[in-house]
Amino acid sequence: MECCHLSQLFKIGSQSNAPADRRTPKERPFWTGLPVSHNPGSGLSPASQTGSLPAMLAPTFKDIVAAGEFIAPYLPKTPLVRIAKLSEELGCDYYAKLENLQPTGAFKVRGGVNLVGNEVGTTRGSGWVDDAFNDSEQLNHTTGQATLITASTGNHGQSIAYAGRLFYTRVIIYAPTENVNEAKVRAMRDLGAEVRLHGPDFDEARLECERVARAEGFRYVHSANEPKLIAGVGTIGLETFADLPDVDVIIAPAGGGSCASGNCIVAHQLNPNVRVIAVQSEAAPAMWHAWRNRTLDPYPTMKTEHEGLATRVPFEMTNKILWELLDDFVLVTDEEINGAIRLLTRHAKQVAEGAGAASLAAAIKLREGLRGKKVVGIATGGNIPLERFAKLMTEKSEY
Ligand SMILES: Cc1ncc(COP(=O)(O)O)c(C=O)c1O
Repeated sequence: MECCHLSQLFKIGSQSNAPADRRTPKERPFWTGLPVSHNPGSGLSPASQTGSLPAMLAPTFKDIVAAGEFIAPYLPKTPLVRIAKLSEELGCDYYAKLENLQPTGAFKVRGGVNLVGNEVGTTRGSGWVDDAFNDSEQLNHTTGQATLITASTGNHGQSIAYAGRLFYTRVIIYAPTENVNEAKVRAMRDLGAEVRLHGPDFDEARLECERVARAEGFRYVHSANEPKLIAGVGTIGLETFADLPDVDVIIAPAGGGSCASGNCIVAHQLNPNVRVIAVQSEAAPAMWHAWRNRTLDPYPTMKTEHEGLATRVPFEMTNKILWELLDDFVLVTDEEINGAIRLLTRHAKQVAEGAGAASLAAAIKLREGLRGKKVVGIATGGNIPLERFAKLMTEKSEY
């Protein structure tokens, strides 16, 4: 992975602008040269590519490879670690993809950097957000550039705030007033974003954000219906296949669905036999319900304490991808997720927030079907308030 260009590694057909692959056939990983089949790489049928999203096509595999190249100078490749004790207990090879180690503490930043950098241009970004902090030009970052506006429960907002800081762009974020992670709000503000709290839940904050965007002519960044965000987070899948080409199962938590859908597109292209499984909390099962019933109707309840998984309204682009490509979708309880946070601390020495530990909770639930397999659980984030983390660690539990 480190040694070569991503578009060489994940060869994407004759349309690629990448330099020719100079490696001998023997040197090439097995997935290079895979044909890009019936469409340019999303895995979606042509009908659902156009569907009712005429102005915004779902991202393709090629877009994800391009995103991988684009974000590489700005973000680290995250480790994929086999966790011996969990592997032993689950009877499989269990790997965690450590997105909690991203500079914002969550995977979303891959999408933010890809979207903001591509839209705003990279000429003014040095590549390191610390430099942007120290750059006096940054003081003027609110003038002369498009204003980006978005709604978030935290990690998506941090991602856009981080990318806004990196590429000198003004960012406004709407967050809900309830079930809000104070540490995430503080982090968004520390990155220079203007945070406005509105409404009791994410969808109320989102509606207000959309209204303001229309009224002010700001560039509204949807948290899911954005091909560049999905392509950015899909790069998790590229890194996973690069490190573990014989992966059997990838488990992704779902909120808006970008993580699961990006990984579905990659798996479908590189090895359609790999099963991609999504997980949500039973207490907020909107995406699960949407996937099971092929509906975008809002779900009436959303009570999970794990805000990264809290969705009431399923979004069109990610759902259409998941309806075609996702293999399974499981629900776990909030308490099972808390148990998984404890297990990741104990056995992997990693701090995960609830959404980040949900993949492990799902693996525990599905353990019979995972026996003997190589399983990757995406530990999507580690932004848990320390008081909550400390309380969880001291609670008595079977995990
Ligand atoms: C840590 C974490 N994991 C998972 C998710 C869900 O991701 P997605 O919205 O891509 O489904 C989120 C969403 O904010 C998150 O913050």
